[in-house]
Parts: sequence; structure tokens; C-alpha cells
Amino acid sequence: TRLLVPSGPLTGRHILVTSGPTHEPIDPVRYIANRSSGKQGHAIAAAAARAGAQVTLVSGPVNLPDPIGVEVRHVESARDMLAAVEAALPADAAVFAAAVADWRAASAAGEKMKKDGNAIPPLALAENPDILATVSHLSNRRPRLVVGFAAETENVIAYAQAKRARKGCDWIVANDVSQRSGIPGGVMGGDSNAVHFITAEAVEHWPEASKTEVAERLVARIAATFGPLET
Ligand code: CTP
Ligand code: CA
Repeated sequence: TRLLVPSGPLTGRHILVTSGPTHEPIDPVRYIANRSSGKQGHAIAAAAARAGAQVTLVSGPVNLPDPIGVEVRHVESARDMLAAVEAALPADAAVFAAAVADWRAASAAGEKMKKDGNAIPPLALAENPDILATVSHLSNRRPRLVVGFAAETENVIAYAQAKRARKGCDWIVANDVSQRSGIPGGVMGGDSNAVHFITAEAVEHWPEASKTEVAERLVARIAATFGPLET
């Protein structure tokens, strides 16, 4: 039984969100990953659901519970994430908060790689598909609003503006990840975030706030852009 029918500024909209890192297998027991916790992406999915949206969250491996009221698709690799995203379309808006691994092992070994012998195995890499750019450039099923993130350690705004144009998305939420990655107080894994909100026209500096507050601010912007559902 459904006790609560959520209703809010995004009621009737489908919002797609990616979150977390991806794991790229090297062999059955080893993988390439990054320090993303999924906290910001999961907070966006939760905030969109609270705003009344139907939310599909495509999540890489994270240590977080599935957000309440959100349809979650759990994936491992970038290629799995792209397939799950494409399967979840159409959507009114898509927010790509995942820290997708840029590279995967060119060929994952089918069995555990063994040390025997003295040769250290080389790790040949192949580039992963760019999920954000792929969806931004869809001719028929492109969501009306496509939002990317940018993780930079220098020239944050200039790099993020270039990324927005190159990838063809509408907005970029940019953060500086140079500070203390992976330890308390750092952006990756931390609970707060100071971001630059970048559109084709303007740059806004959003002051340091909890990842929940950043999520709510972004969701409010999406709702304001869409306006009330045309009936
Ligand atoms: N992204 C994606 N698929 C990838 C790589 C990135 O969808 N294979 C998305 C991320 O989810 C994010 C945006 O693209 O929304 C920017 O990610 P980022 O790592 O900052 O940019 P890259 O284009 O990968 O460039 P670089 O890492 O070299 O700065
Ligand atoms: Ca990248």
C-alpha cells in the first residue's frame, strides 16, 4: 500500500541521476576505482524524490543506502552505467554526478593473475565511453536538461566552462577536488561542498554547504527551469 503520494514542484517529471565511482575489472579480484563516495549524487536523487519527481538513480559501488522513494539500478563499470542510463531514458532531466573511471583495463583477465615468473604485468588501458557527452548529443532522446559535474584541481572555472561546451550539456556543477581528497574535510568523501554553478550565460559561486543543501539548491533550479507541469 502506498501511504504517501509525494507531490511537489517536480511531480510528473522523470529525473535520472548517476552517482558514485565505477569499478573497472583487471581480473576477477582486482579493479580500478576512485575516491567518489556517491554522497552528492545520492543527495540529488533523494532531493528530487522529495520534490515529487520520479527518480531513477544509476549508482556505482557505494557504501550508502538506497535513497527513499528512488528506483536504484546498481552497476559496476562505466560500460554497465552507460547501458543502465540508456535503458532508463526518456527523462526530463539527467544529472551526471558519478565519478566515472576514464579508463578501464584494455582486456580484463578471466582468471586471477598470478605472480609466478618474474615479469610484472603491464596494465594496458582503454578509454571508457563518456556517458554525459553521449546523452548530451542524443538527437532523439536527449533530456530537456542535462547537467554534468566537473572535478578539477586547478583552473576550475575555465576548465569547467570548456567541459560544458565540449560535452554539450546545459549546466556544469564544478568543484575543486585538490583539497585533501579522501580524508575528512575533503570534497571526495566529505559531507560538504562549495561549487561553481556554470551555465552558458553565467557563473554562480555557491558557498560551502552540506551536500544535501547543494542538492536541494540544484533541484530547486531544475524545478524553476521546468515550471509547473503543463496539463
Ligand atoms: N563523465 C561521464 N562519463 C565519463 C567521464 C565523465 O559521464 N566516462 C561525466 C561525469 O559524470 C561528470 C562529467 O562527465 O558529470 C565530468 O567528469 P570529469 O571527470 O570532471 O571530466 P572528464 O571529461 O572525464 O575530464 P578529465 O577527467 O580529464 O578532467
Ligand atoms: Ca574524468
